Amino acid sequence: MVVLGIETTCDETAAAVVERGADGRGRILSNVVLSQVNEHAAFGGVVPEIAARAHVEALDLVIGKAMAEAGQSYDTLDGIAAAAGPGLIGGVIVGLTTAKAIALVNDKPLIAVNHLEAHALTARLTEGTPFPYCLFLASGGHTQILAVRGVGDYVLLGTTMDDAIGEAFDKTAKLLGLGYPGGPLVEKEAMRGNATRFALPRPMHGRPEPDFSLSGLKTALRLEAEKVTPLGDQDVADLCASFQQAVVELIHDRLRAGLKRFKAQHGNPTALVAAGGVAANEAIRKVLSRVAFEFGIKLVAPPAELCTDNGAMIAWAGAERLALGLTDKLDAAPRARWPLEDVVGRKTLPPAPQLQRSAEPA
Ligand code: KG4
Ligand code: ZN
Repeated sequence: MVVLGIETTCDETAAAVVERGADGRGRILSNVVLSQVNEHAAFGGVVPEIAARAHVEALDLVIGKAMAEAGQSYDTLDGIAAAAGPGLIGGVIVGLTTAKAIALVNDKPLIAVNHLEAHALTARLTEGTPFPYCLFLASGGHTQILAVRGVGDYVLLGTTMDDAIGEAFDKTAKLLGLGYPGGPLVEKEAMRGNATRFALPRPMHGRPEPDFSLSGLKTALRLEAEKVTPLGDQDVADLCASFQQAVVELIHDRLRAGLKRFKAQHGNPTALVAAGGVAANEAIRKVLSRVAFEFGIKLVAPPAELCTDNGAMIAWAGAERLALGLTDKLDAAPRARWPLEDVVGRKTLPPAPQLQRSAEPA
């Protein structure tokens, strides 16, 4: 089964072709990602209107490249998948409409994929991780701990009360004048900084419910930065290191609470799976492997280029759904908001209508 996947929910224009074997194993045939970072850098964040226009300009070329690298033509594909949300609605419309056109013209099934589901299932593409597993999804827009019990069967265990972790990294970078996107820049500064110089809070630490809160940390960081203004190079590095250390400790504590809740509600997970752009951070990957070790389970952290937004994860989620017969109609709606728990899988599909048998043979 060979599926084309299209991703346009944020600031990456991406397309990929992925194959799913009869044994359920995945293989990436191509994975093309065009980042719009330069278009947005001057604004210190993603500008939705600029993103949508840039997707329109680049998407045909990106898809053409992905198809050529995979050595595929549209008639050799088994399905066309696109991220139908959640995300910036202009970009989502561009990707989903393009997928619909390709599906319609070539008479192929369309799979309207939830972007978060694609992050959630990436571990099955890279490692074939069996269900159920505990997912730590941390990106620019989401911070969630989930029980992944099957395709379309996701239970939210914990989430953030305010900012997402990626967003907190981005805001820290902005505050310290590092630029955008913030995550990798803060990580780089943190490497040469002193993590114990600034005493920052660890909000929610020790609470039994596995939720996060990051706005207090952000405010505390701003107050510390204001105390030492004007900021020298070492001050910036120390602030980044102290911030990253606080996040690492929070993740450790919150994931312990999440895994405890997982075990109580769903039995033993097969693995702790990391997903989303934040999982590209080395210090965070280290603490994830520590917590997995403490619970005696495996850590599955896909390579960084498959943690950040990409087309391969969309194609793979499309293939997983297609294999279960979960395709979508051409009127599938693009969605700005689409919580993962609302994604419908086979188990939760409404029962097929019962045929009414008449008592008398016709
Ligand atoms: O999953 P993703 O590529 O896009 C969303 O769906 O949001 O995640 C992007 C987020 C951004 O907030 C970015 O700053 C963060 O992931 N990020 C990182 C790192 N690389 C990306 N955060 C911390 N450390 C990193 N190395
Ligand atoms: Zn994402």
